[in-house]
Amino acid sequence: TEPLRIGIAGLGTVGAAVAARLITTRADFTLRAGRDLVLAGVAARDRSRDRGFDLAGIAWFEDPVALASSTDIDIFIELIGGDEGAARAAVEAALQTGKSVVTANKALLAKHGAALSALAEKKGVALAFEASAAGGIPIVKVLREAMSGNRLSRVYGIMNGTCNYILTRMEKEKLSFEECLADAQRLGYAEADPTFDIGGFDTAHKLAILTSLAFGTEIDAEAVYVEGIGSLTLLDLAMADELGYRIKLLGVATRTQSGIEQRVHPTMVPKSSAIARVKGVTNAVALDGDMVGEITLVGPGAGGNATASAVLADIVDVARGVSRPPFGIATEHLVPASRAPMTLHAGGYYIRLM
Ligand code: NDP
Ligand code: HSE
Repeated sequence: TEPLRIGIAGLGTVGAAVAARLITTRADFTLRAGRDLVLAGVAARDRSRDRGFDLAGIAWFEDPVALASSTDIDIFIELIGGDEGAARAAVEAALQTGKSVVTANKALLAKHGAALSALAEKKGVALAFEASAAGGIPIVKVLREAMSGNRLSRVYGIMNGTCNYILTRMEKEKLSFEECLADAQRLGYAEADPTFDIGGFDTAHKLAILTSLAFGTEIDAEAVYVEGIGSLTLLDLAMADELGYRIKLLGVATRTQSGIEQRVHPTMVPKSSAIARVKGVTNAVALDGDMVGEITLVGPGAGGNATASAVLADIVDVARGVSRPPFGIATEHLVPASRAPMTLHAGGYYIRLM
């Protein structure tokens, strides 16, 4: 079998981890994929930056679109980020030129997922995005492959590592919001613009993707009711603690009588609940199926290696010829989220209960 020639655009936290792993464990991937996986080309802005691996013998591109369109690669991995600009142009160029695409870019999929999915199907190539929701947790595969015997009533959980890391450290160490956010950025958890994390928009992007897969709706992050954690204070966390709760930023998609509603907001969860015990950068996604009951998947929600784990699995799938239609035809419809009925007043802030 011919080798699979891989092109990676974006060599930051995630891209550098994917590239390094492909290089250091190439023989393992050959066994798993049944063919050689070769890192043929990379694209980033600054050629002089140390990426933690040797660039010798790998074609360097400054323009991700040129890499995506190149006849020297067979598959394009987009790890730049952003819902427009270089990321969108390069993904479109790769699909247009008949290449499968792997991406971790939830912002791009939340905005253009339907159109990119249609383009991938038209061209008969894969668009794989396991890493786009809940980092290292294989939630996309579980929803698509393992839950199809169920009618789901709810998908909910902690879907942003940065926010959970901030809330955990504020609560335990009484550190300020700003200090915790700076650490999350230093550790590579936060988005290039951390407003996406703390404003709840990153959770909304992921929720929109998971809702589409779980319920068969269109992907619409605009239809998500969103509140972030930016105005939470140490006093809010202390008051919630006194009342027997922890505050978590949750994404919740629920089947209602009129349709599927989606919401993201700080939520008071009882300290005794499993979700309250999810700490730091860890994410947790719970699925309610009518046959199986509730399943909860817990694992690292952000970070280079954890996210690279999901990207690499998609690359191996493509190498083995496993390809599923990215998003199906919408069979259920979305409805605007009603504000949750119960609220508690904790330290000057009204917070939803589940
Ligand atoms: P980084 O900001 O660490 O890296 C972005 C990379 O893209 C950099 O290497 C940068 O180049 C390159 N880049 C940016 N703009 C251009 C451009 N115009 N042309 C060429 N290269 C460009 O991002 P992350 O690795 O953190 O995230 C990548 C993607 O993965 C995003 O979509 C993010 O949402 C997603 N993601 C991230 C996770 C994480 O834990 N970090 C987890 C799950 C998903 P240079 O280095 O030269 O500046
Ligand atoms: N910024 C995101 C987070 C990265 O903190 O969850 C993973 O998608």
